[in-house]
Amino acid sequence: MNILVTGGLGYIGSHTCVKLIEAGYNPIIIDNLYNSKKSVLQRIKQITSFTPQFYYGDICDKPFVDSIFKKHDFTAVIHFAGLKAVGESVIKPLEYYEKNVYGSICLAQVMRDNNVKNLIFSSSATVYGEKNPVPYVESYPTGNITNPYGWSKFMVEQSYIDLSNAEKEWSISLLRYFNPVGAHPSGLMGEDPQGIPNNLMPYISQVAIGKREKLSVYGNDYPTKDGTGVRDYIRVEDLAIGHVAALKQINKSGIHIYNLGSGIGNSVLEVIAAYEKACGHKLAYQIVERRAGDIAAFWADASRAKQELDWQTQYTLDEMAKDSWNWQMKNPNGYPNE
Ligand code: NAD
Ligand code: WQD
Repeated sequence: MNILVTGGLGYIGSHTCVKLIEAGYNPIIIDNLYNSKKSVLQRIKQITSFTPQFYYGDICDKPFVDSIFKKHDFTAVIHFAGLKAVGESVIKPLEYYEKNVYGSICLAQVMRDNNVKNLIFSSSATVYGEKNPVPYVESYPTGNITNPYGWSKFMVEQSYIDLSNAEKEWSISLLRYFNPVGAHPSGLMGEDPQGIPNNLMPYISQVAIGKREKLSVYGNDYPTKDGTGVRDYIRVEDLAIGHVAALKQINKSGIHIYNLGSGIGNSVLEVIAAYEKACGHKLAYQIVERRAGDIAAFWADASRAKQELDWQTQYTLDEMAKDSWNWQMKNPNGYPNE
């Protein structure tokens, strides 16, 4: 079964391609290499003994995307391609709305033209905004978001919900990821941030390996267990398996919304402690001001995915830290250029 994977060379997409291959699917990748490298294909091959077909190009380029649909018969599309840096989205909102919103609409139009109507979309827990109590449940209202990145996810969700209302034969899953971390246990694939990492675990990894002097902990005066921010960290392997599980819905028309999280909240200090255990030494950090736009605490109610997809996370924070460190040690400079 051919599955088109947009953004399939990125962090979550590459792990998902591995799980798709292991489950017997044939992932075919479109990626513009904006935030990834072609050498990821070699790593997928090392893990699975199979190299997926790869097309270099942009999802906003409809004739290009259409030409891929003319070459292959797709059963479904898993749509990861997009921009994901929250801070950058505040500075470059138009680029975020173009690539994330316009790109997602172009993709759906090409799918419709080619009569492929099974779609799985990478959404985010960020769509729940600031006002909802924890744990987040799929039925909560979305909105009250603090940045253009989050609004772009909100807008794509709304466009796809409207599409599904208008054209009943579509089957669309909106997967709301919590905080993906970790790496493939082989150490062959992991997160490869360009420049200074925005997210917690990649930053800690670079402190652990000596690339950065110390971590700034953004605030210790939140109303949480130890005053630092609390998040639901989900191992990227578990998340990838969640996509394979979501393919179960492809012949069920309508909108299917799932939280993909562990259901457990961990604080920044707990993440640091788990990483120290993994790397075997203390990590330097200092408490600084809160980061603008941060929420004190959120985690998932992941019971719908368990009930309907028979999916739940398997791994602990310690295991996530261990895999992250393994990847960091084996690839101190990330993926090779070619
Ligand atoms: P990533 O940047 O590693 O992967 C995205 C991939 O898409 C990259 O390989 C990039 O080169 C490609 N790409 C970007 N724009 C493209 C375009 N216009 N056309 C073709 N390819 C394009 O990001 P990721 O962490 O793997 O995230 C995947 C998806 O999941 C994104 O949509 C992201 O917003 C969403 N998401 C990520 C997180 C997270 O914390 N990583 C959390 C929630 C949701
Ligand atoms: C986690 C915790 C920080 C860095 C973001 C996006 C979200 C989703 C996942 C895409 C918070 C603290 C962080 C640091 C710190 N992405 N922290 N020092 O902000 O929960 O979510 O990534 O959809 O949309 O907003 O993740 O890893 O940046 O932060 O103290 O150097 O770590 O304050 O409490 P966040 P994060």
